[in-house]
Amino acid sequence: MTKNPKPGLNDSYTRYGKLAQVQTDALQLAGRFRIQALAERRIVADVRSKLALEPTHRLLEIGCNMGTLLIPLAFDVAEAWGMDHPNIIQLAKTRFADPRLNWLAGCFPQTQPAGKFDRILVNSVLQYLSNIADIEMFLDQALALLSDGGRLLISDLPNTDRRRRFQTSEAGKAFDIEWKQLSSGPETHADRKQHEIFDGATVIATFNDDQIFALASRCRKGGYHAYIMPQDPRLPFGHTREDLLIVKP
Ligand SMILES: C[S@@+](CC[C@H](N)C(=O)[O-])C[C@H]1O[C@@H](n2cnc3c(N)ncnc32)[C@H](O)[C@@H]1O
Repeated sequence: MTKNPKPGLNDSYTRYGKLAQVQTDALQLAGRFRIQALAERRIVADVRSKLALEPTHRLLEIGCNMGTLLIPLAFDVAEAWGMDHPNIIQLAKTRFADPRLNWLAGCFPQTQPAGKFDRILVNSVLQYLSNIADIEMFLDQALALLSDGGRLLISDLPNTDRRRRFQTSEAGKAFDIEWKQLSSGPETHADRKQHEIFDGATVIATFNDDQIFALASRCRKGGYHAYIMPQDPRLPFGHTREDLLIVKP
């Protein structure tokens, strides 16, 4: 189902679509660094436990990219849906073609799958929207797709306040030194292209404590339970990001 497009909402989505034409490495196309390959493998277990998936569930991932999280999660549920830019969905389909997983090309919320979902995952996506108004609209439209008792996990939200608290700790200072050493390798052609494609993007990029509390509070006022949850520090950005779990009573 396609609704009228809203200008501005598509900026990073469109850029990700361009990136898929030059970057076919699934880790980097999903916005992670090469040095995070092992840490990425821990994300599925983390979101799986927060979503509390059941074999009867209908699961949707909005911004599923090449399906690194959704493909394994599809084996836990009755029916899985993943949506993203057509160029990315084309790559995802070649990675995993199975009737248990339905790929949907399109930009949310203009494009939406039919029906309600028991579980919805939005991992590492909201920071790519342009402003809080677009984020609230995205959130409201995702909540409207939830079944009664359903869960929406908005995970991997970069939080500048959390980052500052970590970076000023002894553990944070040691991590920074190690990160700089590990990530100082040569740039590839695809790395350079990736920087060019995202140069000047209109993205909110990070949140702070107040903004994350405000999103949780807005959900509660709207009649949902909402919880801010920590990430496992061993996740790719586990020291500086956190999750918002929203439950429809
Ligand atoms: C950083 S990647 C995260 C991918 C995946 N969720 C993961 O964690 O591995 C963000 C993805 O969200 C997609 N995206 C951004 N805005 C979107 C929107 N409005 N509708 C659908 N996909 C969107 C991008 O195309 C990109 O593939």
